[in-house]
Amino acid sequence: MAKNRGKSTAAGVAAMRAIGALEDDPSVRNPDYLAARLLPTGLRLLLAIRPLARMILKQYHRLLPGNYYLHIVRTKHIDAILKERCGQGIRQLVILGAGFDTRAYRFREILKDVKVFEIDHPGTQATKKARAARLPGGTDVSVTYVPVDFNNQQLDVLFESGYSEALPTLFVWEGVCMYITPQAVDETLSFVKRHSGTGSTIVFDYIFRSMVEGKCDYYGARESAAFVAKRGEPYTFGIEEGAIQDFLRSRGFRLLSEFTPLDMEQTYLKTVDGTVRGKVCGYTNVVHAAKE
Ligand SMILES: C[S@@+](CC[C@H](N)C(=O)[O-])C[C@H]1O[C@@H](n2cnc3c(N)ncnc32)[C@H](O)[C@@H]1O
Repeated sequence: MAKNRGKSTAAGVAAMRAIGALEDDPSVRNPDYLAARLLPTGLRLLLAIRPLARMILKQYHRLLPGNYYLHIVRTKHIDAILKERCGQGIRQLVILGAGFDTRAYRFREILKDVKVFEIDHPGTQATKKARAARLPGGTDVSVTYVPVDFNNQQLDVLFESGYSEALPTLFVWEGVCMYITPQAVDETLSFVKRHSGTGSTIVFDYIFRSMVEGKCDYYGARESAAFVAKRGEPYTFGIEEGAIQDFLRSRGFRLLSEFTPLDMEQTYLKTVDGTVRGKVCGYTNVVHAAKE
């Protein structure tokens, strides 16, 4: 099995959501009020000291410009799609590369009649599972955990865990596909296409191929590429900018919506006085697509 580097990226994005949840202005605050509880105790205690949290954030802005705001808008946007899809009667939610995702817990009310599966690398998932059990009411929430290494295993293991291919399902694939192989991306989309019920959709974010090739000049791109390369986990998958419709169509999907960084700033980062609070890094779009 490939080395698991996902745990640190999962904790890193959860830490940013935890800091975002401390924002004073509710219109820009990260809605993930449970993120802090899934962090290692030391980090959680550190973030509880506001001046320290501010210092960490300042450093983060310097290292990865636009990333903090990306986490706020991405959480809000995918939350909005989840709420919309629950209203439209989905029966299953599959969170791919779930990391420290808290949606099963934050949305427990609207997910009452929805079966939730979390798929992740075994190492990351074991940590998540142990920490989630300690959330208030954590053991009352029913989540089926399915350990999978996308690069080496097929999603067919879902069938052994009670997943039904006949039911309308929402797949959430947040912050993952840029870290796996192009083949693993295709196999995941192929599974969704072949093995989900009518009306199923998938929401995911992707980076532009120019990022993977080290040629992207958009806001925060250079710093982000340098950061992941230094950690020994360079980006492995991207989609050509402007080619999403073709990319999806050739894999049997129809684009429902695509949000650019600018769209997300306008939609999710406006303060009460109408000004946009921050700039989102420029190389990531979020897509919602349906099976054709
Ligand atoms: C940046 S984190 C995002 C986690 C979560 N979706 C979120 O947004 O908070 C990347 C996630 O992808 C998972 N991941 C990366 N490579 C993987 C692989 N080969 N197989 C399974 N999961 C993988 C990691 O374990 C980690 O949870």
